Amino acid sequence: MKNATGESFAKIILLGEHAVVYGQPAIALPVKSIRLTASLTDGTDQSIHSSFYTGSLQAAAHTDFAGIADLIAALLKHFNAVDAGFTLTIKSALPPERGMGSSAACATAVVRAFYAAFEQPLSRAQLLAWTATSEHAIHGNPSGLDAATTSAYRPQWFVKGQAPVPIQFPKNGTLVIADTGIAGQTKIAVGAVAKHLADDPDQTTASIEAIGQATVFAAKALAEDDLLALGTQMDHAQLALQALGVSNAALDQLIQTAKAHGALGAKLTGSGQGGCMIALAQNARDAQTIRQALTQAGATATWQYDFSEERTH
Ligand code: PMV
Repeated sequence: MKNATGESFAKIILLGEHAVVYGQPAIALPVKSIRLTASLTDGTDQSIHSSFYTGSLQAAAHTDFAGIADLIAALLKHFNAVDAGFTLTIKSALPPERGMGSSAACATAVVRAFYAAFEQPLSRAQLLAWTATSEHAIHGNPSGLDAATTSAYRPQWFVKGQAPVPIQFPKNGTLVIADTGIAGQTKIAVGAVAKHLADDPDQTTASIEAIGQATVFAAKALAEDDLLALGTQMDHAQLALQALGVSNAALDQLIQTAKAHGALGAKLTGSGQGGCMIALAQNARDAQTIRQALTQAGATATWQYDFSEERTH
């Protein structure tokens, strides 16, 4: 086994969360300035160092790291190296449980590191198959969106069960991302929507379809550089997400603050019930104003993503 490193990025869902679980499209983007690396070095035992878990691979079985530990065990088996010694160091700038795809990013970087360490080529399909297994263990019934985006280098149009397609982003516009500081629980939020659907199928289906429609219109707005229309679709999606019961008071407050400070649109991102929100700003200067207002309103962290950066990569 060679020393090797794998990397991945934070992901932000621009539009389509929750509805994507029910077959609607979603648009998500990798945020390359927020990254995670997994580095493998030679070791005598099998040890892991990370902010999620530090200790032996074996002792990770009943911890929050169990899903990734199972993935590592499966990778070792795949490479006929169940007893190989290594030290795995994971460094992450992604806040966990904030809808940024932390677990998928971790799985992605770990798979990449092991394939590089065993000097094996890794296709995108193989990578997504590995991460799907660990995401199932961690999240229950994931759409695969997180894994597809944290391993991508461009914004993605995503439909469950289909290969993700890279899409073009506009020349201008800046997204502000803000953390409520409250952990979002993907499994619980996805379960809450499933319960809504069982209890009130008509209303819930209408909300899911409204999110799907907002995503389709947003893709058109992106292609036409129409930031106003994109903002409007973000607002529409947020109304439908509220109707699904996945927003909360902290998210609603940050969304209102962003809108009051010039955001063209604002919504939660990821599973909701905590986690992060996003706001669309006309330009970097407006984004700065919105970021300051969000921090004053209680956001525990904010980030910025200029669409123009995307075109230079
Ligand atoms: O909270 P996150 O980033 O894991 O987002 C989950 C996105 C959902 O649409 C709510 C679930 C899924 O599997 O797509």
